[in-house]
Amino acid sequence: MNSHTVRLLTKHDFIELGDIHARCFGDFAWSSSTFEDYFILPEWAGVIGFCVEKPKKVCDLTNTLELQRRLSGFIIGRTTYDINDVFTIAVDPCDHGKGVGTALLDAYLNAISTDCMLEVAKGNVTAIHLYEKFGFEVITTRREYYDNPDPQMRDAYVMRKKTNVFEVAAQGSL
Ligand SMILES: CC(C)(COP(=O)(O)OP(=O)(O)OC[C@H]1O[C@@H](n2cnc3c(N)ncnc32)[C@H](O)[C@@H]1OP(=O)(O)O)[C@@H](O)C(=O)NCCC(=O)NCCS
Repeated sequence: MNSHTVRLLTKHDFIELGDIHARCFGDFAWSSSTFEDYFILPEWAGVIGFCVEKPKKVCDLTNTLELQRRLSGFIIGRTTYDINDVFTIAVDPCDHGKGVGTALLDAYLNAISTDCMLEVAKGNVTAIHLYEKFGFEVITTRREYYDNPDPQMRDAYVMRKKTNVFEVAAQGSL
């Protein structure tokens, strides 16, 4: 697996989050302002997220090469009481298959100390494979959960990863 620079999301990332979501989900994407709300509205207190950043070479107007940073992908969610919900994970399509999703989910799961739940379309084999790799299991199916014309992408699996209390204790969180 490639090594990736993972960092916490901040409210300043919201535009890029909307852009990546749009490239991944098209008409079903969440807007940048939805992501901004997660960081600024009090009702979303406790939202946490990570992103993978990578350097990008760009030329300015004088043809001077400079190194900027852009996001390859992100994950965002929240713990409420004793359960964590992943809201979404999205990797820029041009960076799929390079280990970005794996690095994001790894960082996220290391940062929480509760069971973790998420929904995923039944036909999203890549995402389901990623979640199973980290120990998520299907606990139920929600029929017609997504408003998607593709019948494979309408039903959702609800998946849960149970907390490994021994790992959490070893990290000093208990
Ligand atoms: C799902 C997603 C986040 C995975 O991100 P990624 O950076 O491509 O994932 P990785 O490169 O870390 O690969 C994760 C695993 O999926 C596997 N994989 C990649 N493409 C696959 C495919 N088409 N079919 C099955 N498995 C696939 C990889 O081999 C890897 O497994 P391995 O470690 O056992 O080899 C990314 O595909 C994505 O953003 N998809 C669009 C948005 C989305 O569907 N989000 C999830 C909504 S619930």
